[in-house]
Amino acid sequence: MKFGHFDDEHREYVIETPKTPLPWINYLGSKEFFTLISNTCGGYTFYKDAKLLRLTRYRYNDVPMDINGKYFYIKDGDTVWNPGWKPTQTDLDEYECRHGIGYSKFKGVKNGVKADVLTFVPVNDNCEVSKLVVTNDSSEEKNISIFSYVEWCLWNADDDSRNFQRNFSTGEVEVKGSAIYHKTEYRERRNHYAVYSVNAPITAFDTARDSFLGLYHYAGNPEAVLNGKLTNSMASGWSPIAAHQLDVTLKPGESKSYVFVLGYIENPVEDKWESHNVINKKPAEALLAKYDTDAKVDAAFAELNDQWDKLLNIYTVDSSNDKVNRMVNIWNQYQCMVTFNMSRSASYYESGIGRGMGFRDSCQDLLGFVHLIPDRARERIIDIASTQFEDGRAYHQYQPLTKKGNSDIGSGFGDDPLWLIAGTSAYIRETGDATILDEMVPFDNDASVAQTLMEHLRRSFGYVDTHRGPHRLPLIGRADWNDCLNLNCHSTQPGESFQTFGPSEGPVAESVFIGGMFVKYGNEYADLCDLKGLTDEAAKVRASVAEMNEILLDSNAGWDGEWFVRAYDSYGNKVGSKECEEGKIFIEPQGFCVLAGVGTETGQAQKALDSVKEHLDTKYGVMILQPAYTVYHEELGEVSSYPPGYKENAGIFCHNNPWVSIAETVIGRGDRAFEVYKKTCPAYTEEISEIHRTEPYIYCQMVAGADAKFHGEGKNSWLTGTAAWTFVNISQYILGVYPTLKGLSVDPCVPADFGDFSVKRVYRGVEYDISVKQNGAQKGVKELIVDGVKVEGTVIPYDASKKTVKVEVVMG
Ligand code: GLC
Ligand code: GLC
Repeated sequence: MKFGHFDDEHREYVIETPKTPLPWINYLGSKEFFTLISNTCGGYTFYKDAKLLRLTRYRYNDVPMDINGKYFYIKDGDTVWNPGWKPTQTDLDEYECRHGIGYSKFKGVKNGVKADVLTFVPVNDNCEVSKLVVTNDSSEEKNISIFSYVEWCLWNADDDSRNFQRNFSTGEVEVKGSAIYHKTEYRERRNHYAVYSVNAPITAFDTARDSFLGLYHYAGNPEAVLNGKLTNSMASGWSPIAAHQLDVTLKPGESKSYVFVLGYIENPVEDKWESHNVINKKPAEALLAKYDTDAKVDAAFAELNDQWDKLLNIYTVDSSNDKVNRMVNIWNQYQCMVTFNMSRSASYYESGIGRGMGFRDSCQDLLGFVHLIPDRARERIIDIASTQFEDGRAYHQYQPLTKKGNSDIGSGFGDDPLWLIAGTSAYIRETGDATILDEMVPFDNDASVAQTLMEHLRRSFGYVDTHRGPHRLPLIGRADWNDCLNLNCHSTQPGESFQTFGPSEGPVAESVFIGGMFVKYGNEYADLCDLKGLTDEAAKVRASVAEMNEILLDSNAGWDGEWFVRAYDSYGNKVGSKECEEGKIFIEPQGFCVLAGVGTETGQAQKALDSVKEHLDTKYGVMILQPAYTVYHEELGEVSSYPPGYKENAGIFCHNNPWVSIAETVIGRGDRAFEVYKKTCPAYTEEISEIHRTEPYIYCQMVAGADAKFHGEGKNSWLTGTAAWTFVNISQYILGVYPTLKGLSVDPCVPADFGDFSVKRVYRGVEYDISVKQNGAQKGVKELIVDGVKVEGTVIPYDASKKTVKVEVVMG
């Protein structure tokens, strides 16, 4: 069952009912100012950092679900309603929400009045703009009142939700004309404030929450709105808000339009005040003046759309499969931008007050983002590398505002160092910009011990190479990609964090998965060594990689007979082996070893993937492990803490489904690669939205596995490495347009009935127009013709002197 439909022409998902199975959200803003907005206008806003600079409040785990947001109320006689249905939940005559690329539109109709809201964050300003158009579609004159409402957060969202003894006494505001200013803590150490304004004179306002809502009321029935009269309250402590009242008369057929702007302003410390304790509003007024007419708003909206036109033109496919076209050309790339911006910090499942940016997460997010805005990817790589330790390990997370490593969680995740190679290699393969390797980058943010980025990568590789266990496999440390495989933790007390409890390293517990990564990214590192002319180093690295390859295939180490072992625990026992009672087979090493090319020549690759199909497959995707753990295994950690079928305990972790799909392309099985791709693909799961429940236009992190009560139900939508990996999978492996250090390679691996297709790719400033004749083949390039000239192999030689290149590929 569906709750809406795709509008590909406008790049929108059109939600037809406010009663979606879960809030279906969108992200506005892609630089520094961000808003999360649900299909019923719930959500919140922050500047740069969802924890430290939160502008508006959100209530987590709230009842009724998703109740705080930025609302417009319309009072028409005795009826009060919202264009987005919530929070009054007054039945609407018509409702529609269109989530677009960087904007959302709402349409509500009630008793002959139509309200259209367009909300977006402009490309170059720190504000959110909402254009509200009310239209009288009835035959009588209408006298209505419009009310706006936002609840301010006292900046630090964590403190805001806990430290009431202080916070109930700090709130301060100013009002000037239609502009309501939130200036809590500005009088002391902050030099930033927020403003919420409308481009029309107002009848009244409120800035104190109790005055607006009334005691024992909530946003669903605000007393001042029900009374039809805001009270001009001035907040003093408690909970400051911003609410405007506009009284509007509309003749039959008449429309009126209002622009609301929610902005963030920072003043230079010496220029904070206009007069004693009166904030300097000049920059706010200048900002508001930029959006004070419809024409200016429309121009800013056009600018946003132009920006996305450009970004989404970098990679486009035209195939006979609409769903693939839609995901590749629009939604998958859009989600890659969002995950790049947010990492795992702020969603409807990640509160934004917990973790900052993940080291491994951000490195992987780069893989799906780097082609969009390479300069930002470059900056991100330097930021991430700056949190690395001198010995090659890394902070597992860092805070986006300070860019410093998060010492609460610390270090010790065995896979982290190698992901830095993955991200850097992707950047150089995309851009050809090897100068990044010469950048001087601090360790642990200490510039006095800076080394080149190349040296950082060397230490990344070296750390893993020199930290091996009894089988010469890499040590796992706290965990590898699977955060829940905590083999050195041994926690027995409730509340101990699996991520930080116990030693961060142990001499015995090893990861086969990191072994697969070592092969994949060791090879990429060796290529970078070659690029830098370091042939001796490249040879040494390749020798280590070859040795690891053997270890992985050795049935006394990485190989279990029918599939790859997952790990060895701290007692040296196998994890993910036929010898285990539970957790006999895990997905990660099968996908990653094979995508790294391990076992492709010995038949073990094929065997491992056949085992995945036999033991882990479901109609909703491939599960992370089987059989699920039914009891808590102290020696394995968090993985066994989840009830069977959820999360890392036999859930369908969408993130590693593309690894399996990519692995299938590596061995040339296009049918199966695509089957795996389809199972978690939003454009396909849209049809089962009542089961899947999360947004049908983007990926979620996890779908409940076969052991779970709600098999097929998605959770934790939006912020997941799935976005980047599925984009890499479909664009680089299935459609096969893969950036190498020497140029674009075209080597598709598609299902037999996929048909001919074409890809347009802007790469290092050249536009490639690639058309593929499939010939019913799943893999294999029979002919590669570049501008009419036949070329050997699959790589199009890069020629910067050309603007456009025509590429014909014949498969077979
Ligand atoms: C979450 C984490 C990611 C981890 C994965 C598997 O998505 O953000 O870092 O790799 O879970 O545990
Ligand atoms: C829990 C989650 C896992 C996540 C980790 C870090 O372990 O199950 O998915 O990566 O927390 O926050």
